[in-house]
Amino acid sequence: MNTRSVSLYGLTAVLAFSFGAFSLWLYEKAAAFDASGNQVTLKNKTMERKSNTLRDLTDAVLTGNLRDVNPTAERLKQYSLMIDGFLETDIYDRHGASYWKALEQLKAAAAADDWEAAKDATLAVERSCLECHQLLLPSQP
Ligand code: HEC
Repeated sequence: MNTRSVSLYGLTAVLAFSFGAFSLWLYEKAAAFDASGNQVTLKNKTMERKSNTLRDLTDAVLTGNLRDVNPTAERLKQYSLMIDGFLETDIYDRHGASYWKALEQLKAAAAADDWEAAKDATLAVERSCLECHQLLLPSQP
């Protein structure tokens, strides 16, 4: 065996050991993460973003910054479509109509630079969030 193949074996051994150690470390990290019970899933993240976007939307209308309304409404739509994709129920199909309609009204109002209509449509969007969520709450006695 020449020096070159010896060092090649050595290198392979070092690499194999490092990979093993790294896998073990990763496995332990993953186990600790699962045990912590506060992992941030994609679904939770999306929902959080949905709430934040509603706040951005309210801010945009509140400050009369209608140019920001359209992209914000579009973001809200995309997050809602994503959440809809995660759900195991068809609640967006059954109760989402007023929500999608309010978002379209909002975009039209912003495009027309109509502050009054944007204000009403923002309230309609918020109302439809609340109404759909009210349906999700356990029924009152
Ligand atoms: C048509 C029904 C519907 C509409 C409209 C709707 N949501 Fe939701 N939302 C849901 C459902 C269903 C869930 C998922 C609940 C679950 O899986 O635990 C959800 C989850 C959420 C969550 C996470 C709640 C939690 O317990 O983790 C937030 C926050 C949220 N939505 C905010 C909003 C906001 C803000 C709007 C309006 C911009 C909105 N939603 C509009 C149906 C709706």
